[in-house]
Amino acid sequence: MYGSDPQAPAAALAPASGTRPAEAGRLGLPRGRVGSSAAPRRERDRLGEIIGASPAMQHVFDLIELAAACDANVVLIGESGTGKELAAQAIHELSARRAGSFVPVNCGAIPETLMESEFFGHRKGAFSGALIDKHGYLDLADGGTLFLDEVGEIGPRLQVKLLRAIDGGGFTPIGGTEVKRPDFRIVAATNRNLRALVRRGELREDFFYRIHVLPIHLPPLRERREDIPLLANHFAARFGRSAAAPPLTPRLIEALCGHDWPGNVRELQNAVYRYLALKRLDFAGGRESEAAGPAPPAGTGHGEGLEAMVARYEKKLLLEALAENRWRREATAAALGIHRKTLFAKMKKHGITPPGRSDACAS
Ligand SMILES: Nc1ncnc2c1ncn2[C@@H]1O[C@H](COP(=O)(O)OP(=O)(O)OP(=O)(O)O)[C@@H](O)[C@H]1O
Ligand SMILES: [Mg+2]
Repeated sequence: MYGSDPQAPAAALAPASGTRPAEAGRLGLPRGRVGSSAAPRRERDRLGEIIGASPAMQHVFDLIELAAACDANVVLIGESGTGKELAAQAIHELSARRAGSFVPVNCGAIPETLMESEFFGHRKGAFSGALIDKHGYLDLADGGTLFLDEVGEIGPRLQVKLLRAIDGGGFTPIGGTEVKRPDFRIVAATNRNLRALVRRGELREDFFYRIHVLPIHLPPLRERREDIPLLANHFAARFGRSAAAPPLTPRLIEALCGHDWPGNVRELQNAVYRYLALKRLDFAGGRESEAAGPAPPAGTGHGEGLEAMVARYEKKLLLEALAENRWRREATAAALGIHRKTLFAKMKKHGITPPGRSDACAS
């Protein structure tokens, strides 16, 4: 266990992002510690700490269990806040490696010059400032899981060295002579398009294929809105219900379900916490709605006439509904409870055209 190991790299003991310490203790364990907790249990609408009843999340749960049952490298792909780190921890804790360490590394937060020593460790005196021998992340992950968060940020030089270590060729700490061959499994995460990085020459193809054995896509929250009430209630219960905390009313839940959540589950979690603490719904963009109804468009009331304000709001609602229904106009009209032709007319009036088209929309 390296929780008390003075040789451990400092960053390994910190939360992967370095910015969300509250998440570090989510499992009740210091980050990067030996995974001695009980394996996460699968229930109808959750897998351990991961909540989700939607078919998309049930599929993710299946893939997590599949990944846990084998030892292949995994890459978790999804927008920020979709639960990639939570999924990585679940894979580790469900796997045969759970007695080993889960070592989270935020590849985007390590300065290029420190990368090698952080990953491979160094010997005392290897460079000025190397006052003691120090283990690297690969040593710490021996028998466990190396979580490479923001894997797309690893430079090509380190990719070559990592690849060799992954392939069993081992590595030598800086200033050392011995070759080490720790046994670890890689779970990587990214919110970037790794194939595009390969095409641009930023990610080596051989490294890509080595980590991209079992890809798992974490769907954005706007594509699984049925999970929003479940998640909101989960966060409210976790926040701790005090007598002063306002209830999650059906109207509030409706407003939450209508929001697009660009920051995904993290944004929803923060919005629920803010609501319980401040008693008002405040979407992260700064728009506020005390009544928890749909928020009015930004800038309301700055000398604009009622008609212009209503038109602006209507346009905003149309755009949201169209995006939500992937620009299928039949479905959007049905969702808005208006006739197809009325939707066409309104789109024309507001100059709304589907993405990728500049022509008029009324057809
Ligand atoms: N399905 C979920 N159920 C419960 N909590 C979730 C779920 N998904 C995410 N969260 C919570 O949302 C927050 C963000 O999750 P996490 O850090 O795993 O996201 P991420 O995809 O790694 O984000 P980033 O790309 O920004 O690092 C955490 O507090 C996590 O506990
Ligand atoms: Mg993350």
